[in-house]
Parts: sequence; C-alpha cells; structure tokens
Amino acid sequence: MDIQVLVAYATKYGATAGIAEKIGQVLRQQGLRADVLPADRVSDLTPYQAVVLGSAVYMFRWRKEAARFLRANERALAERPVWLFSSGPTEQGDPVQATEGWRLPKALQPIAERIHARDMAVFHGALDPQRMNLIERWMIKNVKAPVGDFRDWEAIASWAAAIADALKKKENP
Ligand SMILES: Cc1cc2nc3c(=O)[nH]c(=O)nc-3n(C[C@H](O)[C@H](O)[C@H](O)COP(=O)(O)O)c2cc1C
Repeated sequence: MDIQVLVAYATKYGATAGIAEKIGQVLRQQGLRADVLPADRVSDLTPYQAVVLGSAVYMFRWRKEAARFLRANERALAERPVWLFSSGPTEQGDPVQATEGWRLPKALQPIAERIHARDMAVFHGALDPQRMNLIERWMIKNVKAPVGDFRDWEAIASWAAAIADALKKKENP
C-alpha cells in the first residue's frame, strides 16, 4: 500500500502541532505514509492522496495559515478525501458540547461543504497562561476557561485510526 497523507496544521502555542503529530503517528502505525507539516509550509498537494487539516481556535476563528491553506487549495482538496479538525475547548466532557455545536468557523463552512470534507472534528486543546500574553490571559480569566492540557489522546488516536481505515478501504474496497 502506498498512500501518502498530508497532516497540515496551524498552531500558536504548540497544542495543535502535538495533535497533528499524534495523527501522523497513528496513520504511520496503520501502514500509511504521513507528512506532518505547518500549513504555511505546504504549497503543492500533488504528492498526497489525502489531507488532514487542523487549526487552533482563537475567538471562534481558525489561525490564518489554516484558513489560507483551505482557501488557496480548494480545487486540489476537492479532488482528495479531506478531514478537518479544530483544537480548542478546555472544558470537561464532549468538546462539541463545550463549543455548543460549533465545529468550524462560519466563513469556512461553505468551502468545507464544497470539498466534501469527510469529517469536522473538535478536540480538546491546551491553555498555558505562562505562555500567553496579557490580553489572552485576561480573556481566558474573563470567560473562566479551565487552564491546563486537556488534549484527549485516545479520542485523537481513534479518529486517526478511522481515517486510516477509510483510506485503506478505498484502496482495497
Ligand atoms: C485568547 C484565546 C481565545 C480562545 N478562543 C477559543 C475559542 O473561541 N474556541 C475554542 O474552542 N478555544 C479557544 N481558545 C483555546 C485554544 O484554542 C486552545 O488553547 C488551543 O488548544 C490552542 O492551540 P495552540 O497551542 O496550537 O495554539 C482560546 C484561547 C485563547 C488564549
């Protein structure tokens, strides 16, 4: 099997990069090839048969590198299976419940629909007040967001394993 997957991500403080690395690791364990790269370092999707794209969420928006990647590569993405994820909430429980059903910035939803994104996952993120600037710290305090690393490695790994399954089935239906 020779399926090459791109896992592209946009991060500010590294939590989303960690999630992307985990996804890449699981895909490789499942026998696929995976490149894990910052979204702004990829300009050509030709080598990839599938793409996973994720971003950290700040004020209900994706980081601009991920939003740009989605817009700039819409045509190539429409020709490949694509999975999207957002990394954000730090509340306990179901992350989509924590975001009240929010999965992707509104402005990007039409693109996700046009490229027929296979899934739009939301994963718990991480907040480290020591690394944030003053305004961010104030905002987090204001909304009483729990601080700490809430990344759910099991949920991330099982999502990645489902991606691997789908791609392997596609190769050998
Ligand atoms: C100022 C600020 C605003 C945030 N806004 C949101 C938000 O709107 N929705 C959300 O789910 N998470 C929000 N978060 C949480 C981050 O998305 C979360 O910490 C994420 O995992 C950070 O990823 P990164 O380390 O890759 O940048 C916010 C965090 C900060 C500091």
